Amino acid sequence: MNIEDLISRIAKYISPKRLDHVKRVSEVAKSLALHWKVDSQKAEIAGLVHDIAKKMTPSYLVEKGVSHDKTFPKVFETYPNVWHAWVSPVAISHFLKLSSRDIASASKWHTTGNAKMSKLSQIVFIADYLDPERTLSSRSALTDIAYTHLDLATYCISAKALIQLVKKALPIHPYTLQCHNYYLTTISELDTKRVKSIILE
Ligand SMILES: [Fe+2]
Ligand SMILES: [Fe+2]
Repeated sequence: MNIEDLISRIAKYISPKRLDHVKRVSEVAKSLALHWKVDSQKAEIAGLVHDIAKKMTPSYLVEKGVSHDKTFPKVFETYPNVWHAWVSPVAISHFLKLSSRDIASASKWHTTGNAKMSKLSQIVFIADYLDPERTLSSRSALTDIAYTHLDLATYCISAKALIQLVKKALPIHPYTLQCHNYYLTTISELDTKRVKSIILE
């Protein structure tokens, strides 16, 4: 896979600002993948393609030849922030001609997360949140956790995302809850206490 070629193809579908974001996410994902001994090229690619559908709509997809039932119009209406992630596997295969199921699923779960994600999916979920340009007061603590306890990092980010949604009065997708509840069961009570201040800040 020629990464430069992939980047220039992705650039046709997202804004320059978004392109910078996905490049940074891709770097973080690649570094985490190398650390956790996960396929780092898949992580790099998943980081690059995860927001491919950010500017798209169900009608745009239909116009470009995607069948209506693959465009999740209900999700678009009810969870507009989640939709671009849900439809990303379709967009990745339709527009970029990539067929990796692992990459498709890492991209699909990058916004809500899910219970029992693959390590690759957890890495992309975490990397998206840790975009170096995002202002995060807990950045160094969260980065530390991402390199030492993948499930705990997933739990923290899921809990922080939940709180943000409540603060902004946005609907909470059932998969966001599933992700939070599942990863809560994977960590110890001590770890839950340890990260409480990170989650609540
Ligand atoms: Fe996204
Ligand atoms: Fe993103």
